Amino acid sequence: THKEPGAGVGGLDTTPPPAAPFNHRIVSAKPNQIRNFYTINWQEVLGGGRFGQVHKCVENSSGLTLAAKVIKARSQKEKEVVKNEIQVMNNLDHANLIQLYAAYESRNDIILVLEYVGGGELFDRIIDENYTLMELDAVVFIRQICDGLQHMHKMSVLHLDLKPENILCVSRVTNKIKIIDFGLARIYKPREKLRVNFGTPEFLAPEVINYDFVSFNTDMWSLGVITYMLLSGLCPFLGDDDNQTLNNILACQWNFEEQEFVDTSEEAKDFIRRLLIVNKSWRMGASESLRHPWLSDSALHHRLYTKKTMCRSRRSSCVPTTES
Ligand SMILES: *[C@@H]1O[C@H](CO)[C@@H](O)[C@H](O)[C@H]1NC(C)=O
Ligand SMILES: *[C@@H]1O[C@H](CO)[C@@H](O)[C@H](O)[C@H]1NC(C)=O
Ligand SMILES: *[C@@H]1O[C@H](CO)[C@@H](O)[C@H](O)[C@H]1NC(C)=O
Ligand SMILES: *[C@@H]1O[C@H](CO)[C@@H](O)[C@H](O)[C@H]1NC(C)=O
Repeated sequence: THKEPGAGVGGLDTTPPPAAPFNHRIVSAKPNQIRNFYTINWQEVLGGGRFGQVHKCVENSSGLTLAAKVIKARSQKEKEVVKNEIQVMNNLDHANLIQLYAAYESRNDIILVLEYVGGGELFDRIIDENYTLMELDAVVFIRQICDGLQHMHKMSVLHLDLKPENILCVSRVTNKIKIIDFGLARIYKPREKLRVNFGTPEFLAPEVINYDFVSFNTDMWSLGVITYMLLSGLCPFLGDDDNQTLNNILACQWNFEEQEFVDTSEEAKDFIRRLLIVNKSWRMGASESLRHPWLSDSALHHRLYTKKTMCRSRRSSCVPTTES
């Protein structure tokens, strides 16, 4: 089916996605009943994960359509984790980062009321056989992820759970995206180590697997994996089992040998090579990535546009488990 290409004749579409339909707010969890203010559609599940489920909802007073993320949290400790997520989101005002509208705390859960984003997961675009993904589309997607990361990193926030399921398309017909799920995100503290209970290991950086110090460039590794996936539909480190995948990551064992990469530009490959590096201090940061020719060279973009360089994403070998 036809869709808008990543660029017009004049060049790359670099306009940001529409902002949330409300101004940035500083939110704290209120002890009120959410049902007194919102109508939640419990039948319509927009997404889910280890935390619980996300439902479409409408604020009665304003008529705004929003998304209610219901996070199970009984103990004080579980509630603190969700309050950290709220705290992190209070720092992030950017069109490529999903915005927080309100939060409600009850005995068994905390519900985050979020900006509604209706275009589905970026991952579904990668595996959709009816959607022709061009390399220039990948440029447009990755640029926006970098823009979001640049803002997060400027605000000292690490996302630490960047993967295609956590990137939502704004609509089915444009290439605008927003990064979601700040459940593992945190304010950067030098020399803080991170222990994660990971479900899908394909996106983990070596320093996370090694329980070593994490940093801004931990997110940049994940960006490298996502770029590789967008361009090929393949996972760079996927092994026969999780153990093998983890070993591939630690050994930084990956390549461009698959036939999916025959049309891929050298600039795209160079971009990935500068991110999938074991030593995090050698990886490009978000600002440097935005200046990389693959994301910034308009002559290259024009060439990709006229050559209609396609991503080979028909044979997706790395369908992640839906629950992480
Ligand atoms: C909110 O709006 C819905 C739909 O109009 C209505 O059924 C519900 O009673 C309202 N709730 C409150 C608390 O006003
Ligand atoms: C692709 O299009 C066909 C025919 O319209 C449809 O049956 C199929 O479900 C579509 N596939 C996806 C992944 O949407
Ligand atoms: C995991 O991989 C390591 C190194 O290759 C190997 O020694 C170990 O036996 C493997 N463990 C399992 C459970 O497969
Ligand atoms: C990573 O690179 C930095 C800068 O070159 C160096 O100081 C550091 O020792 C390296 N770390 C590891 C684990 O090799």
